[in-house]
Amino acid sequence: MDLERLLRGPIGRLPSGLAERVYRVIRRLPPIRRRIDAELEKMLDAVRERVKPYRDDVATHRRLPSTGLAREDVIATVASLAARERPTWEEGFASGAVYHGDAGHIEFLDEVLALSSQANPLHADVWPSVAKFEAEVVAMTGAMLGSDAAGPVFGTVTSGGTESILLAVKAHRDDARSRRGITRPHMVVPETAHAAFDKAAGYFGVRLERVPVGDDLRADVTAMAAAMTRNTVLVAGSAPSFPHGVIDPISELAAVAASRRSGFHVDACLGGFVLPWAERLGEPVPPFDFRVSGVTSMSVDTHKYGYAPKGTSVVLYRDAVLRRAQYFTATDWPGGLYFSPTIAGSRPGALSAGAWAAMVSIGEDGYLEATTRILEAAARIRGGVEAVPELQLLGDPMWVVAFGSDVVDVYQVMDRMTERGWSLNGLHRPPAVHIAVTLRHTRPGVAERFVEDLGAAVADVATEPRPSEGMAPVYGLAARLPARSAVGDVLERYIDLLYEV
Ligand SMILES: Cc1ncc(COP(=O)(O)O)c(C=O)c1O
Repeated sequence: MDLERLLRGPIGRLPSGLAERVYRVIRRLPPIRRRIDAELEKMLDAVRERVKPYRDDVATHRRLPSTGLAREDVIATVASLAARERPTWEEGFASGAVYHGDAGHIEFLDEVLALSSQANPLHADVWPSVAKFEAEVVAMTGAMLGSDAAGPVFGTVTSGGTESILLAVKAHRDDARSRRGITRPHMVVPETAHAAFDKAAGYFGVRLERVPVGDDLRADVTAMAAAMTRNTVLVAGSAPSFPHGVIDPISELAAVAASRRSGFHVDACLGGFVLPWAERLGEPVPPFDFRVSGVTSMSVDTHKYGYAPKGTSVVLYRDAVLRRAQYFTATDWPGGLYFSPTIAGSRPGALSAGAWAAMVSIGEDGYLEATTRILEAAARIRGGVEAVPELQLLGDPMWVVAFGSDVVDVYQVMDRMTERGWSLNGLHRPPAVHIAVTLRHTRPGVAERFVEDLGAAVADVATEPRPSEGMAPVYGLAARLPARSAVGDVLERYIDLLYEV
């Protein structure tokens, strides 16, 4: 890859910190900037077709149609695009993405969404129903995560896991400023914690320290403790982590955080709606929720294993003062007295209605049954991975199954799986791929198909390794380039590409 040659010459031989600094300086020099831009363009050309598959056969609107299109034609377009995209998720080829997806459940949620499509909780006077739904979603989620034993917890509905994490960081930052006078806030997370913590650090000016995990891919408690400073406002752990699906030692981390007067956040975006039921089913689930003293906040995604429509999550706090540190109020604005609990102003009340409807319709028995099925399918997939000699299972996962390889290029394996219709997640540090098992994979034959395709994909790569045009080269490049902002530049161009018409 030419960008690689460009950056792996003299820069590539530097230690990574220095390489990064040199790259940042030289990319500002116009001739080098132009060369980098040209190389990035070339890379994008290679993926443009994959990212924009409808360019040639679906009308493109670069400006408003002078006369509005007939509704039935608009519906026909949306329906045809949805139909082309449906098989990947519906037939269980995607990691995560659609967590329930049964036709009856979707129809039911669609009806609720349609009934509340106009609702906006910013106008609680017009739609008090949404305030009811949101309060109950928070209460039910808290009850699932230890409030019965630990006493009341407080929270809000947000737009997703990322927003829940952003808000928990903001709340701890502001609370530490007012309660402890901390003006240079710092937080400590394991390197496996979700990228949303980096986003929060960037958005809210909190210095983030990512600490290497142990050989079992779980947070290293001693190293995390050593990374804490007097300014640490928040420590976090995952239950489980996105990359490898393992649960950090929550009790130990929370105890260390509490002993240093820091907050402690459990990112249970993936596990919040699975672990409580796995525990009831007798699985060995370590304590991870508000029953652990020292846990001050949690993020829990209704739109993942809560089986709600996309666009909702819950952030929970142990105390009401901390929740208030999340809120925003403007008291002198000519537009009136303004207040909102989360980042957005106006919000889709329909999604909160959908989350409420999903939770009350599924109930404890439904979540127990779903968890049983997911754990069974995951065990089959895990067993299949363990049976492929070229692959190595990472960590000791329950339902997010990650694997790497010392023998074959695991990104090429991922690309061969893509060629077989799968949409898996690439990971790095170490190079690996994972599948987050959902209800889609519990349908008859799906786990077996995964195992069979994986074995065939590995055999293909082992017998006939070949460069591919999929994600393998991008991950390979990301692993090899010492200047991380060069990788960031590639990703920014990719986002630009998404917005190309
Ligand atoms: C552990 C964990 N935390 C946070 C997130 C972010 O969630 P979202 O994509 O809903 O913003 C994810 C998403 O997969 C996750 O797995």
